[in-house]
Amino acid sequence: MALRALVTRKALTGGLGLGSQTIRAMQTFSHSLPDLPYDYGALEPVISAEIMKLHHQKHHQTYVTNFNKALEQLIDVMDKGDAPTIVRLQSAIKFNGGGHINHSIFWKNLAPVREGGGDPPKGSLGLAIDTHFGSLESLIVKMNAEGAALQGSGWVWLGLDREFNRLLVETTENQDPLVTKGANLVPLLGIDVWEHAYYLQYKNVKPDYLKSIWHVMNWKYASEVYETECP
Ligand SMILES: [Fe+2]
Repeated sequence: MALRALVTRKALTGGLGLGSQTIRAMQTFSHSLPDLPYDYGALEPVISAEIMKLHHQKHHQTYVTNFNKALEQLIDVMDKGDAPTIVRLQSAIKFNGGGHINHSIFWKNLAPVREGGGDPPKGSLGLAIDTHFGSLESLIVKMNAEGAALQGSGWVWLGLDREFNRLLVETTENQDPLVTKGANLVPLLGIDVWEHAYYLQYKNVKPDYLKSIWHVMNWKYASEVYETECP
């Protein structure tokens, strides 16, 4: 049953017992797979079309599907006041919702070379990187080292701590979004270091994937986010 239909039916019958504001908020919970801003083969030879297609159509789609499913279940069990199930659903919401959030950022973090992928950051973000890390090269070395050292699956991030206006490198496990490491953290760049992001092409050599991905990094996107947060 579509989430909107479920909410409408329950709202009409008064079954949810929730305020109209809460119900309106829940109606926005149906998420969908965003289109890639480029073709599947546009990042070759750095990332193959086969990986991009599988990663987007299968992996990301699965996170979206399971996120929506968990949210529908949540509304249903909230209606019943089923506290154990409400608590049990939190891990599915975190994992699949995180997967959806992270991948939605990741696609925008990348760009074909002909569209500026790999061009170094300019303006205020470029200056902030030099201030915080010494140079862009030092930042890349740090992110690659932390990404390579991450055990199991996860992400390595360049983030902004907007409370202290400082840049940081952080890793998260599984599909945890950066915000799980601090409410003030805003992701500027995230690199997916799950095996599904590189194994078909780079096999078990994760450091080669990390070294290559900078050739299609979309610093323009990171700069726009940074300038919005730090005008
Ligand atoms: Fe992924």
